[in-house]
Amino acid sequence: MEVLCNGLNVVDLLAAVPQNIPYGGKTACEKIIVQGGAPAGNAACGISALGHEIHFLGYLGDNTLSQIGKTELERHGVRTDKMIHRTDAQPAIAIVQVDGEGERTVLYSVTGYYPLSPSDVVEQDIIDTRLVIVDGYDTEVNTHLLRLAKKHNKISVLDMESAPIEVMKEMVALATYPILPLSGAQTLSEQRDIEDCALAIDKMTNGTVVITDGINGSVAVVNGQLIRQAAYKVDVVDTTGCGDAFHAAFTSAILQGMSVAEAMNYGSFFAAQVATVFGGRTKFPTREFMESNLAQLTNI
Ligand SMILES: Nc1ncnc2c1ncn2[C@@H]1O[C@H](COP(=O)(O)OP(=O)(O)OP(=O)(O)O)[C@@H](O)[C@H]1O
Ligand SMILES: [Mg+2]
Repeated sequence: MEVLCNGLNVVDLLAAVPQNIPYGGKTACEKIIVQGGAPAGNAACGISALGHEIHFLGYLGDNTLSQIGKTELERHGVRTDKMIHRTDAQPAIAIVQVDGEGERTVLYSVTGYYPLSPSDVVEQDIIDTRLVIVDGYDTEVNTHLLRLAKKHNKISVLDMESAPIEVMKEMVALATYPILPLSGAQTLSEQRDIEDCALAIDKMTNGTVVITDGINGSVAVVNGQLIRQAAYKVDVVDTTGCGDAFHAAFTSAILQGMSVAEAMNYGSFFAAQVATVFGGRTKFPTREFMESNLAQLTNI
């Protein structure tokens, strides 16, 4: 096994919402689509699209949402055969409204979603894998997975969006590559500026801290030095899943043996392509696409 992924599993209903919709009325939308979503699920799909064998963990039940969640992972080649059957379990569900500027408004429900329990984790799976990628939502089991990854000297990638501060601290300390959006980094570090956040969080972990800030790019700390990566300019349709796409390609680049600076560039280019289509999991660049465009992958 190459990669093991665990975290929140969500089915998204994405709607391109016209301006000034009448409250209580009916409005035709150009696009309404159903697809799998959430940081871990999207990252798993992106990693698979880049040619890596990846297993997604978690529960699946006997219901429509579970069927959609499973199909949506498998559509991108993610392996679901390690997912555990639990009759009443289902993915969370979100209604994502995207306006003409690409701005998102999200309604979600986690009723019926159960995070995997640490007792469900098979330690041998971590021993057999090269890299573990988790989000900061299913915190008990994901902290356990990060501990096991550390114990067995495996690479771990953490998408730490938000969690109680003590949990964030523990997970960031455990991960090889803790990656945070700026908002999460500000909460954790009590700093405002992205570079101050990065330097403060660097002191909390032996891992390599990466902070992303949407269109403003990303920053990492390697050997105490700041590395900056700009975002690629593209015609943005929908930024849903950009962060997840960045994590996917960053992870792939690390597996391919690239440096942190190269991995940030790779992640940034991949995420920008995802912003040009509606939906965070609609279409991913392939490894071939990335390689044939490597010429323009210079640190900018
Ligand atoms: N509008 C954009 N244009 C080009 N690249 C973008 C854009 N938005 C994000 N990116 C790229 O994706 C990376 C991650 O984005 P961001 O910081 O928004 O992640 P996030 O907050 O985790 O997003 P998500 O909502 O997907 O979880 C950025 O560092 C940048 O490289
Ligand atoms: Mg994110």
